[in-house]
Amino acid sequence: MTDRIEQLEREAQAAAAVAASSAEIEELRVRYLGRKAELPNLLREVAQLPADQRSAVGSAANRARRAIDSLLDQRAGELAVSELDARLQAERVDVTLPGDPLPAIGRLHLITQTRREIEDVFIGLGFNVAEGPEIETVSYNFDALNHDAQHPARAWSDTFYISDEVLLRTHTSPMQIRAMELSPPPVYLIVPGRVYRRDSDLTHTPQFHQVEGLAVDEDITLADLKGTLLAFARAIFGPEREIRLRPHFFPFTEPSVEVDVSCFNCSGGVVAGGERCGICKGTGWLEILGSGMVDPNVLAYVAGNGYDPERVQGFAFGMGIERIAMLKHGVSDLRLFYDNDIRFLEQFA
Ligand code: DAH
Repeated sequence: MTDRIEQLEREAQAAAAVAASSAEIEELRVRYLGRKAELPNLLREVAQLPADQRSAVGSAANRARRAIDSLLDQRAGELAVSELDARLQAERVDVTLPGDPLPAIGRLHLITQTRREIEDVFIGLGFNVAEGPEIETVSYNFDALNHDAQHPARAWSDTFYISDEVLLRTHTSPMQIRAMELSPPPVYLIVPGRVYRRDSDLTHTPQFHQVEGLAVDEDITLADLKGTLLAFARAIFGPEREIRLRPHFFPFTEPSVEVDVSCFNCSGGVVAGGERCGICKGTGWLEILGSGMVDPNVLAYVAGNGYDPERVQGFAFGMGIERIAMLKHGVSDLRLFYDNDIRFLEQFA
């Protein structure tokens, strides 16, 4: 009987040694130690053996059962480790392979497109692009820009105040001051960004976008202003365009002008069929921006940084991005920019 037990143990050892997977080990466990296996049955029958054999057979069978059990545990452990290695190897993701990008959907908003077009034109003319804070001080937004204490834009009804001294900027012009404080002349800069006013109707939204421009150097004249803005108008509205300057007033420029571009839809306010042009309302001109020569009072504010009004001059301008986009693309309602109706947005590829 003990011979048979030893034989079973050797058989189990040999089978475990060649088993190739932990699943096979579990099969061996059933075959040698399971309910119907020979060795456990032997153990169960020990009680029926003659008394002098019981103890020898019982302890041999018990020892063999424990030995097989722990051998199978050990082999199962070894095989599990190499199976895990193999799986890690086979299922490894190579994160250095090129990705599988989603197809491009959507497109840039017309305001973003227009801002970038404007930026491209001025970068081509040698201007830098900077951005400034949307939360501004009264000092930068109004005082430094030569607004007198009575200026209507300062009113609580016109401007979003955060406190007596802090507000949401009403224009991008405060960046004129910040830029000149940051670096001495010459400066050739445009500043795109959001601005805020307490206005809301067909043609006004409480938040909109402007692009500020500033050029300060030793020999800047109104002719430079006109040449620069003519190049801009032709780049955006077509090479045939002309511009005209009309006298105007801004606190921070002197003289100040409003700039019109000749209508791209008609000639002299009359369309091909002889009718009055709907875009320029028959005037032949479209207002595009405000501009002027930087007021010496503004330069005086930053004179300490090299902006001596006796030595440097400059021009500045400010335009609404929505306005430029509406004119160029015939958009009739400002609110379309902010409704985010896909039928509107997808027209501007
Ligand atoms: N800041 C003015 C506004 O928001 C626009 C403007 C006019 C900017 C003339 C300028 C300028 O730089 O020279 O209405």
